[in-house]
Amino acid sequence: MRALKLAAIGLVSAALAIALPALAQEDEPLARQQWSWQGPFGTYDLAAAQRGFQVYSEVCANCHSMTQLHYRDLAGIGLTPAQIKAIAAAVTVPQGVDDQGNPKQGPATPADQFRSPFPNPQAARAALNGALPPDLSVIINARAGGPDYVYGILTGFVPPPAGFKVQSGLFYNRTFEGHQIAMPQPLHDGQVTFADGSGNSISDEAHDVVTFLAWAANPDLVQRKQIGWRVVLFLVIMTGLTYAVKRKIWSDVEH
Ligand code: HEC
Repeated sequence: MRALKLAAIGLVSAALAIALPALAQEDEPLARQQWSWQGPFGTYDLAAAQRGFQVYSEVCANCHSMTQLHYRDLAGIGLTPAQIKAIAAAVTVPQGVDDQGNPKQGPATPADQFRSPFPNPQAARAALNGALPPDLSVIINARAGGPDYVYGILTGFVPPPAGFKVQSGLFYNRTFEGHQIAMPQPLHDGQVTFADGSGNSISDEAHDVVTFLAWAANPDLVQRKQIGWRVVLFLVIMTGLTYAVKRKIWSDVEH
């Protein structure tokens, strides 16, 4: 009886061992990138995040909103109040209505939300072949694989394999589920020129914009890690103190 059971378990695990890698192999796994904020001591590379904001503003912001962000939040990637004021002032946003009840527009202030490219989802769909570009405020947290996934999408526009039929209005992307995405390839080599002279190949631009998006989705990540380390330090000191007190109290008791 026992031997039968063992044999059955062995058979099932052997079947699983064969089937599981086969299932996983259906799509190639996401390539993992090096991100400065990973690991217990990681912090955001602020220069990369600032370049990433430039990539977002010049490229992605033509289609994608980031409604959770206000211009003043850019202080978090190291921009000065004067820089933030200038960035906001260069953007025209809706500003309520005038005395005749007509919608008004004017330069943004640091307190304004990031400007959305379309007034509503219907307008976005009408302009983009029926597809809706998701808001990018927390996209890094909203997709399995986070930064590696978004990097994979941005660098995943490759020629389709022979025989793969791409529907009209869609584009082949090796990372996107089903491999057909409604977003045209947004980044190209040399598309964005950085003031600090940093590299601007597709992978450089993707790396920078993902750094910016990761900061946008988790702006207090570094602070949380620092608090974590302080708590650990506190616990270590408390453990030492408690042990010393215990030894003192029991020191005159015979064992
Ligand atoms: C021409 C408009 C356009 C531009 C420019 C653009 N996107 Fe998109 N993006 C779209 C559309 C449309 C979709 C929806 C695609 C779909 O669902 O098939 C999308 C989808 C996405 C997705 C989600 C993929 C998913 O898993 O659902 C990400 C991430 C993304 N874009 C990032 C970016 C970034 C970063 C940039 C700038 C470098 C950018 N996009 C520039 C139109 C655009």
